Amino acid sequence: MRTIEWRDGTVITIDQMRLPHETVFLELKTCDDVTEAIKTMKIRGAPLLGAAAAFALALSAYHSKSERKEELIDELENAAENLKETRPTAVNLFWAIDRILDKVRGFSGSARDLALFVVEEAQRIADENAAANHLIGRFGSELIRDGDVILTHCNAGALATVEYGTALGVIRAAWEQGKRIKVVATETRPKLQGARLTAYELKRDGIPVTLITDSMVGYIMYKRLVSKVIVGADRIVQDAVINKIGTYAIAVLAKGHNIPFYVAAPKSTFDLAHTSAEIVIEERPSEEVMYVGSQRIAPEGANVLNPAFDVTPLKYVTAIICEDGILYKEDFVKFKANL
Ligand code: MRU
Repeated sequence: MRTIEWRDGTVITIDQMRLPHETVFLELKTCDDVTEAIKTMKIRGAPLLGAAAAFALALSAYHSKSERKEELIDELENAAENLKETRPTAVNLFWAIDRILDKVRGFSGSARDLALFVVEEAQRIADENAAANHLIGRFGSELIRDGDVILTHCNAGALATVEYGTALGVIRAAWEQGKRIKVVATETRPKLQGARLTAYELKRDGIPVTLITDSMVGYIMYKRLVSKVIVGADRIVQDAVINKIGTYAIAVLAKGHNIPFYVAAPKSTFDLAHTSAEIVIEERPSEEVMYVGSQRIAPEGANVLNPAFDVTPLKYVTAIICEDGILYKEDFVKFKANL
């Protein structure tokens, strides 16, 4: 099954906070259910946040009692406002909501027709993400050689998307082509997406994966135990890639060791109207750093910083892999100019 699906007025998705211990499917019936699942990170990963926000609007529209189109549009605008307050950094969430709202505002037809249109548009957003990930996998796999050891950070896999994954999509495609590769996954403190989700996905697919703590990256690069880095992105702006906290340190280390650093992301993650200075980096609760599971690991009252993402300037990025192909620096400059 896909990571997220629409089934007769319900959104089905997997609770990512319970993995890898339990596989629990959530049946989300209202837009508020989706909003809550995003806030609590049961749903996470930039492209999945986009699809989830789209399906959340679909739930609002589908179950709405409004008989007038204008009233339904108001309801959708309110739902969109709440959704936009969940997580500020991944642009896919805003992209999907604005795409639907733009089309809704220009829609001519009855309230019922509009509701069905929103469901179809959400489904299109999900289908397009799945298709984009397979293309990213196909293009990106051209960069992968037999014997490569690929380091990835956080989880940019099927779980972070509608299916297949971005960084893990590239790894999956190379593996499906018979390339004998190995993966090094960073645990990704504090929410442990690498340990819990990336290691889980790769193990399930039979792709060799070795888990390290975030602070081991420098040493294993120094020991030449990694040949490439591939990560996902939450937002690609004019001058930088914004991704899970820790990405920047990995990129600088990769450059220092002449290891290619690739970013795999669909175009719905591109936000080329903005620069990194304009982007809100999500700050998450201090408990995430103070505790591992239910165990407090620091003295009560300790000061904590918990930015969930960081900013990697483009000079550290070898290329960006998207559904149009591999964008090296010159291609990215042209790509920006053509927008
Ligand atoms: O806080 P998260 O788990 O939502 O962060 C996810 C990431 O940082 C991923 O690397 C990014 O969204 C790309 S997912 C294809």
